[in-house]
Amino acid sequence: MGDTPKHVAVIMDGNGRWAQSRGLPRLAGHEAGSKSIERCVQACIDTGVEYLTLYAFSSENWKRPALEVNGLMLLLEKFLNQKRDEMVREGIRLHHIGRIDELPTVCRRKLREVMEATASNTRLHLVLALSYSGRAEIVDAVKSLAADAESGAIQPDDITPDLFASRLNTSDMPDPDLLIRTSGEMRISNFLLWQLSYTEIHVTKKLWPDFQKDDFLAALEDYRSRSRRYGCVAG
Ligand code: FPP
Repeated sequence: MGDTPKHVAVIMDGNGRWAQSRGLPRLAGHEAGSKSIERCVQACIDTGVEYLTLYAFSSENWKRPALEVNGLMLLLEKFLNQKRDEMVREGIRLHHIGRIDELPTVCRRKLREVMEATASNTRLHLVLALSYSGRAEIVDAVKSLAADAESGAIQPDDITPDLFASRLNTSDMPDPDLLIRTSGEMRISNFLLWQLSYTEIHVTKKLWPDFQKDDFLAALEDYRSRSRRYGCVAG
């Protein structure tokens, strides 16, 4: 195949285990995980990946202990504060998916501010999934189509995969070509359920804080070795 994936999505798993194995609090694992984000962003720039979507906080993550949730929100705020100017300079455009109205006001404001500041950038689209649930996203899209059908703006027969996709948070992005999941778990975990239909999946046993540029390059190599058939016969 030889191509570089245009869109890479990542389930950044294993922060807690990384910390626990060192006798550290879970938040130390998330903090180390933030450094892996920096390496991953740089690896995307170096290899020409255009979209990087990171599963930073799922809707289910709200059920974690308040200390961990608050710590993750502080890490998000710190990341946005520290990386804002670099993103502007390096041509990185920030996006979000998920229900960000559920985030603390300070995170929401900062997100909006960095998204506005980077809105004209095109080198790398960095998409943070925050308070994100694939099922909730699909339900929201269904509600929006149902409301249009009820008002007569569309007929049920007008609903096509393209129209449906246009109501998702990802309407302005291509579907991921490659999904990377760290820590060896073989699950999708409610991430981009519609968008991952034909995505190649690369699972590594490495825990997210240990994920290095070489691991990213290995995932790209694995992707290049696949024959993507989209349900058709091999060519
Ligand atoms: C999964 O590890 C990871 C998360 C729930 C959060 C990911 C967050 C970061 C990498 C850092 C903060 C984000 C930004 C955008 C700065 P886990 O805790 O489920 O690990 P475990 O399965 O080993 O317990």
